[in-house]
Amino acid sequence: MKPTRILITGVNGQIGSVLKKKLSQKFGAENIFCSDIKLEEDFTKNQINLDVLDRDKLFSVVEKFEITQIYHLAALLSGVAEQKPQIAWRINTEGLIYVLEAAKIYKLDKIFAPSSIAVFGSGINKENTVQDSPLNPSSVYGISKVADELWHKYYYEKHGVDVRSIRYPGIIGYSSLPGGGTTDWAVEIFHEAVKNNSYNCFLNKDTKLPMILMQDAIKATLDIMDAPKEAIKLRTSYNLASESFSPEEIAALIKAKYNKDFTINYSPDFRQSIADSWPKLINDLPAKKDWNWQAEYNTEKMVEIMYTNIEKQYKEAGFAVEE
Ligand code: SER
Repeated sequence: MKPTRILITGVNGQIGSVLKKKLSQKFGAENIFCSDIKLEEDFTKNQINLDVLDRDKLFSVVEKFEITQIYHLAALLSGVAEQKPQIAWRINTEGLIYVLEAAKIYKLDKIFAPSSIAVFGSGINKENTVQDSPLNPSSVYGISKVADELWHKYYYEKHGVDVRSIRYPGIIGYSSLPGGGTTDWAVEIFHEAVKNNSYNCFLNKDTKLPMILMQDAIKATLDIMDAPKEAIKLRTSYNLASESFSPEEIAALIKAKYNKDFTINYSPDFRQSIADSWPKLINDLPAKKDWNWQAEYNTEKMVEIMYTNIEKQYKEAGFAVEE
């Protein structure tokens, strides 16, 4: 059997930088190949400058480095996709198809390609959005992710590509910043609370959305990739749940426990209508049943981990603004 050699696309993103460390611990840093559109190329450090729309380069990287798995994280998230619909469609959908083609041609062992709660829209029960709820997204990002899910299933059924996927909720973590998403407020609020004691939120106070702490999101990613092939019954993408909360709930916890001076304002922008179309509570029974998914962190613990770690980082950096 060939040794596991992993290519990560979009490694500079919120998930990529954290996942890279975990995969390096698990498989050895020498077996992890990191790529991004804005990464200085240095093959001696397994760093590859890769635009996922450059199919030929993707194929040559897979061949040259004898890649056996791809974690395909390169994407434009919901906010930015709404501003740049055509390029978002190309990156999110065409980029995925090249990855799936590479998996077919080079007979890769498996692929991880995330989907999102953004696949949902009208016609769902927002308080209990089950796996088989209708997929009627109203955002460009959601439209691209629904198409992606169908491409996963198509390549699995027609070409035997072992592609695994989860519908990530909003991800919150302290060691990397999100970019361009509708759930970004749930990270920004902690940075602003620590730095400025105030936050101007781009969603309304009672906009409740499904969220997950980075540690749990990484655990889910590794768990689904570790599961035996036959356990993965859904080849589109699995619902994944942890906690759900609104900006006013997090603001209250920050104020009560970590920063009594904290204040919050609300100035909803175009992302409000995206958020309003998404579920509030996800039902993830199939993920629990098929590959034993279980989240570990609740909202209070998430707030503690986020606030204390971000505070520590700013103190250590002399309250410099994090890049
Ligand atoms: N966090 C993503 C976004 O806000 C949703 O998956 O776009």
